[in-house]
Amino acid sequence: MQMKRGIFLVLVNVPVLTDGNSNDQMKLVSVWCDYKDPLTKESVTTEAIEVKLQRPEMVNEEDMVVSIEVDRQKNRLQAAEAMSNSRAAAERGDLPRAQSILNGCRTRMADTISMYACDGLATDLDLELQEARSRIVNQSMYESKGKGFLLAGVSSHFAQQACYGGAGFSSSAYQTDNMRRMVDKSRASVFPPANDNTHQKRPRASVFPPATDNTHHKRPHASVFPPAS
Ligand SMILES: *[C@@H]1O[C@H](CO)[C@@H](O)[C@H](O)[C@H]1NC(C)=O
Repeated sequence: MQMKRGIFLVLVNVPVLTDGNSNDQMKLVSVWCDYKDPLTKESVTTEAIEVKLQRPEMVNEEDMVVSIEVDRQKNRLQAAEAMSNSRAAAERGDLPRAQSILNGCRTRMADTISMYACDGLATDLDLELQEARSRIVNQSMYESKGKGFLLAGVSSHFAQQACYGGAGFSSSAYQTDNMRRMVDKSRASVFPPANDNTHQKRPRASVFPPATDNTHHKRPHASVFPPAS
């Protein structure tokens, strides 16, 4: 059996400290995982891991490190949002807006550490946005080639299933059908059946802000990676 590592990006609003104990650790979230063991078919609940946050008054420069893993997943989320907003604009018939949303996302992504590091996911996302942009040059092209492409990109990246652990996806995945097949395959091998809606009652491991909220990247965030299995 092939082992795969799941990655969850969790965006958290960190409350402002009101009391003076700023050096205290702050409990942020508890994370655990419910899943069905694919071999025994039994439900498993992992132990909860408490994520704590240091709240020092001053932050040392060496502590102001950006996690490349978080950065690359934030890029993915931004690309998904851009594709979603771009599609919405194109559906309204506003192609210039749809195009500028994709261009803007590429520009912002160009200035991230994962892009500087030539990270595979970042360059793939950039290629994907570029490809999407080339498919919305006019309304008829959008209807025939752009719409499906944007939809597939949005669903795969919001579901965070288009890639695992930096593997990236090959350029063949730019064809909508291939991408969908790949996503289906990975979903079948790793995730519980899609009709399992019980997770919605549990604390969510990944939380997406509304698509129109573009401020999330300015908020503090915490990243939580489950232990590699
Ligand atoms: C839309 O753009 C494509 C690609 O550039 C072109 O082949 C096609 O003729 C254009 N269609 C219209 C209606 O302008």
